[in-house]
Amino acid sequence: MHPRRLLIGGNWKMNGDLAGGVELAEAVAAAFEPIRTNVDAVIFPPFPYLQSVARALGHSGIELGAQDCSAKPNGARTGEVSASMLVDLGVQHVIIGHSERRQFHHETDRLVCEKVHVAMENGLKVMLCVGETWEERSAGRAVEVVQKQLRGALEGLQGDRLAALTVAYEPVWAIGTGKSATPKDAAEAHEAIRRDLEHLYDRSSSAAVRILYGGSVNAANAPSLFAHLEIEGALVGGASLKGADFASILGSAATAFKGRRG
Ligand code: PGA
Repeated sequence: MHPRRLLIGGNWKMNGDLAGGVELAEAVAAAFEPIRTNVDAVIFPPFPYLQSVARALGHSGIELGAQDCSAKPNGARTGEVSASMLVDLGVQHVIIGHSERRQFHHETDRLVCEKVHVAMENGLKVMLCVGETWEERSAGRAVEVVQKQLRGALEGLQGDRLAALTVAYEPVWAIGTGKSATPKDAAEAHEAIRRDLEHLYDRSSSAAVRILYGGSVNAANAPSLFAHLEIEGALVGGASLKGADFASILGSAATAFKGRRG
């Protein structure tokens, strides 16, 4: 199989302000220009900054993503943002099932599944997040937990939708803690996710899915993560807020892709 370009996502979460976000997007767009043929990138700013960030990204080739969307298509859901509204703004990707949504907003696998369906029906590409807590990993249940989340999220989804799916393996204990999973542990989890996708669907449709790692990815540890073929990119939180660090991660991904291509 031809190696695919790695995909790097920058999840800004609820950080920054409008001027800073625009400045950051401009800096990342400039850094992306010389490497854009060797790496894919998407930035997930907070909702209110989507349009301004889209303008700042211009024709750089960096895609635009939102951090969540409603499970409902429209109607009386105060405070929610629908998938079709995101599409209206030129958004191409949406993060669904991030552990912070599962933890702080009590999102269940069932809700995550509804969101996956509604997002894809509206033409959005889904960045589905799965990952175990430290307790679950210590109890030897990491694979089981991730498998349950994956199966729950994809219930009822046809194989031809997988072309619009990316899975981000994000162990909860590694997010925002500075304690990344070892590249070997991450690669093992990715392998398990890949096997599960092949089991749920088939080899060729699941081959369309890139599996990214997320959890304290930074400029220093990115090259060792990308040394593993199973790791097809990264979802980056903290380090995506610093232009130079994010640019360095993008550069490492471009280099890794060139190496994989041989
Ligand atoms: P982090 O966040 O890189 O700050 O650990 C990753 C994420 O939550 O997507």
